[in-house]
Amino acid sequence: MVATATAIQQFTGLSDAECTARIKAAKAALGDRLIILGHHYQREEVFVHADVSGDSLKLSRAAADSKADYIIFCGVHFMAEVADILSRPEQVAMLPDLSAGCSMADMANLTKVERAWQEIARVLDPDEHVTPVTYINSAADLKAFCGRHGGIVCTSTNAQQILEWSFARREKILFFPDQHLGRNTAAKMGISLDEMVVWDFDQPFGGLTKEQIRNAKMILWKGFCSVHQMFKPEHIDRFRAMYPEVKVISHPEASYEVCQMSDYVGSTEYIINTVADSAPGTRWLVGTELNLVTRLHEQHKHEDKSVHFMSPTVCMCSTMFRVDPQHLLWQLENLVDGNVVNQISVPASDADEARDALQRMLAIR
Ligand code: 13P
Ligand code: SF4
Repeated sequence: MVATATAIQQFTGLSDAECTARIKAAKAALGDRLIILGHHYQREEVFVHADVSGDSLKLSRAAADSKADYIIFCGVHFMAEVADILSRPEQVAMLPDLSAGCSMADMANLTKVERAWQEIARVLDPDEHVTPVTYINSAADLKAFCGRHGGIVCTSTNAQQILEWSFARREKILFFPDQHLGRNTAAKMGISLDEMVVWDFDQPFGGLTKEQIRNAKMILWKGFCSVHQMFKPEHIDRFRAMYPEVKVISHPEASYEVCQMSDYVGSTEYIINTVADSAPGTRWLVGTELNLVTRLHEQHKHEDKSVHFMSPTVCMCSTMFRVDPQHLLWQLENLVDGNVVNQISVPASDADEARDALQRMLAIR
């Protein structure tokens, strides 16, 4: 007989050390029936329990390829949704804390995107001229929107290939929710800033004239990541003045100015690999989330590499941080008892169309 689910309150006071020991025991009891996916921004006490760690693209593929009955996603809500959409129907995707969202993903919603689409339709036929591209950091119904309008999903790793795919089909892109990833990627492809406009989702027609919409190649949603917008050109200037030899590497969610000043720009996985492959003694200034930068420093300090965080103020992804060992243990021990808590289940109506958009992406890269 299945026991009643144990409440989270019984776990919140436990020490991290006790959680670690019990998480290991629960994982051993669940064996191959479980896989834990961990995003690079997870705090160390959680990250150590991941069976697979990676950026959004790598973890999406891991979810799609997994044979486990239960997929626990130590990350944020949209990531667990992707795991649910790409896994088989009988597999269960789970998120340790349901309040672990993404503030950038929340900057776009279906009502506003559909309104934008209708407003663009008063200037030109979007289904003929505009490919909707959503960053994977978005809700499942926005991926479904892209699925039904011939659009696609991208991650920070494959954004350029996805934009190339999109421009091969239609001459314009509506890119949401992150303006910075859209701008940085398009600029790298040689599209000038004059050919990009920002769609202010709180204004009629995005705050743009019909002519601006007609002339734009990239229509960039006015969303941003509150963590990555903290990195500023002056942080790089100040650091370079002290250490002229420093190598600067940033995530493409950082601003155009920061990315232009950086020596390297890429996803979390790219940042990790680039730092790992660098020569001993290299000094790095990194513009991405603090937990990852701290881990990189710890991993490479014995090679005499020093890895510094770009901002002078502490800026972590506070929603990623909501996943703690206590919630993970709560979920695992309930699973051992046969109870699923915090399942993420995308309604079939959204999941089917969202899968189309995700599979178009996975077929490219
Ligand atoms: P990555 O796909 O590069 O890991 O990025 C995910 C994310 O949310 C960065 O803020
Ligand atoms: Fe979202 Fe930014 Fe956190 Fe990434 S770092 S999950 S984009 S809020």
